[in-house]
Amino acid sequence: MNTKTTIAGLEFPSYICNASGPNDATLDELHVLGSSGSSAIVMKSCTIEPRSGNAEPRYARLPYGAIQSMGLPNLGYRAYGEFAPLLQSYGKPIVASIAGLSVEDYRVMVDTFQESDVDLIEVNLSCPNIEGKPQVAYDFEQTEKVLSVVSRSGTKPVGVKLPPYFDYVHQQHMAELIEKYQISFVTCINSVGNVLVIDPEKETPILKPKKGFGGLSGSYIKPIALANVRAFYNLLGDKISIFGVGGIQSGVDAFEFLLAGADVVQVGTIFEKEGPACFGRIEKELVDILIAKGYHSVADAKGRLKFL
Ligand code: DHB
Repeated sequence: MNTKTTIAGLEFPSYICNASGPNDATLDELHVLGSSGSSAIVMKSCTIEPRSGNAEPRYARLPYGAIQSMGLPNLGYRAYGEFAPLLQSYGKPIVASIAGLSVEDYRVMVDTFQESDVDLIEVNLSCPNIEGKPQVAYDFEQTEKVLSVVSRSGTKPVGVKLPPYFDYVHQQHMAELIEKYQISFVTCINSVGNVLVIDPEKETPILKPKKGFGGLSGSYIKPIALANVRAFYNLLGDKISIFGVGGIQSGVDAFEFLLAGADVVQVGTIFEKEGPACFGRIEKELVDILIAKGYHSVADAKGRLKFL
């Protein structure tokens, strides 16, 4: 079974990779991803300066996913540029993820990664966990300012990591900007921002930062993620590539994202819980489904959602 696929013309050896987020901030963690079944090495979203992140507790597993308010703990963008050549021998795409705190931050980081050994640049427009910094992609004027600087330079494909949208007009508006600025791929979706989980025993939120408000991930958000993948597939078709992310923990989940139109799926919450064995497991489960259904490759099933 051929599970090779591409994002922005770049070959991915299989369908499942890690999502920017858990266990991808240090060189040791990135080597683990290199040696794993992940089809790419996706790095933690970085900022200009290193950050230790928000106060603990800032991550909690939930029955069907997780809530987190990490606050962008990362080593600073220079470190990730230096790590890239050390990871090339794994023979899989290396994806930088950038999370500016200003338009100028995005410009500096994208220009630097354009000159580095990373293969793709994911521009995170959707971090929900920085006090006083709204999610960029909910503000289309601000988004346009960022896109105008990140699309300007270099030859490496640039994509955007989007928050969930809950109305088609927002997906349409974003799709217009993606076309206007020649963005090569989208990553749908980031966690559902600013949810609240309460511990009734203690009568407190379960997270400390931002008075308990954090990003929701895992199975809770899968239908929202599928809807966003499908909406961008409908709107932009073959003009862009799509990373699907949000609640994928089994081959069935991956298959649903494939039908919706995702070129590759990323896994975060299940990777945090299960460790690097999850990539090979989900890939095998997906292959078994494709064989049972008579598909010959991942490409064969992409976008093939049927209608009632
Ligand atoms: C963090 C959370 C996100 O959802 C994201 O996109 C980037 C960073 C964080 O809190 O570290």
